[in-house]
Amino acid sequence: MENKLLSESVFLKACRCENTDYTPIWLMRQAGRYMKEYQDIRSKVPFLELCRSPELATEVMVTAVERLGVDAAIIFSDILLILQPMGLELEYIEGVGPVLHNPVRTPEQAQMLKEVEPKESLSYVFDVVKSTRSALPSGLPLIGFSGAPFTIASYIIEGGSSKNYQLTKQFMYSHPTAWQNLMELIVRATVKYLKGQVEAGAQVLQVFDSWVGCLSPTDYRAFVFPYMKSLFGQLDSDIPTIHFGVSTATLLKQQKEAGGSVIGLDFRVDIKKTWQEIGPIAVQGNLDPCVLYADRNTVRDQARRILDQVEGKNGHIFNLGHGILPTTPVDNVIELVDFVHEYSQKRS
Ligand code: CP3
Repeated sequence: MENKLLSESVFLKACRCENTDYTPIWLMRQAGRYMKEYQDIRSKVPFLELCRSPELATEVMVTAVERLGVDAAIIFSDILLILQPMGLELEYIEGVGPVLHNPVRTPEQAQMLKEVEPKESLSYVFDVVKSTRSALPSGLPLIGFSGAPFTIASYIIEGGSSKNYQLTKQFMYSHPTAWQNLMELIVRATVKYLKGQVEAGAQVLQVFDSWVGCLSPTDYRAFVFPYMKSLFGQLDSDIPTIHFGVSTATLLKQQKEAGGSVIGLDFRVDIKKTWQEIGPIAVQGNLDPCVLYADRNTVRDQARRILDQVEGKNGHIFNLGHGILPTTPVDNVIELVDFVHEYSQKRS
């Protein structure tokens, strides 16, 4: 059971749209290559091994959280780990990113994918959750996460990152039944995986639909919406969920309808106008990660602009519109966190 310190934390209150003394902030990819402490560990251990080591994964995240002073931690893991127990050969190649050596290009290949039982094959992630939870200050919420079905399917089909998702869309349009089966398989795996993370100690769940913004609203409705609705519908409604995507300005209303207690806004939208349009729900965002490459004053000005637009309205979680980039200066990140805390405290 969740303790009172956690449920009354600024972050969880903001997820529930309650009044807070200041605006909570955490940053996507807050533990990673932009930090020297991370680079030191990574110079000795490959990325997948780091994800499989509760001790190191905990150290990486707790160090980042302490250094930055953020209001939430996220487990150190990756959305693609779920692919391995499906039977896919995943490798992270230096300078390239994630690569799957046996991508799925036909319905026959899709049928060969295995059902995932996370308690067996992904128990190391649950160990990371447990270990991170016990190492964090008792009032600091821990976010568990997964990829969303479309984003996961895009990696399964493309075999890695992609520019225009041609192979994914080709599969989706040409084989609607196989697409449905694939999306349902991913939903079953993801629901068990996320529930397992909550059992292991996560207070909040974020679902990353990072690449769904490549679809039209009509295709989102037909090929993605039913599975997102099913996924969110199967999660415990007491646990706040963050529904995140990139380039989703035309999809936000449907994303809200599909589920999630918090909607992620990327930096391409005007936060005030968009929040008004989508209606009452908590929102997370939406500073452009590239602002963190500018001078300190610009970082403050840009963060102030977002906070001024929001006007202290309940239910705002400050974050970037997408993850921190690998060469970001750490001092600017710390400056941002401090500024958001100070400035939002004054206004409330
Ligand atoms: O601080 C955190 O947020 C840590 C946890 C985390 C990672 N990946 C660690 C990671 C999270 C939440 C993710 C999510 C993730 N992974 C997403 C969704 C978020 C988004 O950016 O939209 C996606 C699409 C992935 C897939 C992935 N993993 C890619 C495309 C890459 C290569 C690109 C890159 O940034 O290197 C990864 C590798 C990865 N995941 C790293 C980290 C710290 C870098 C690994 C390294 O080289 O050390």
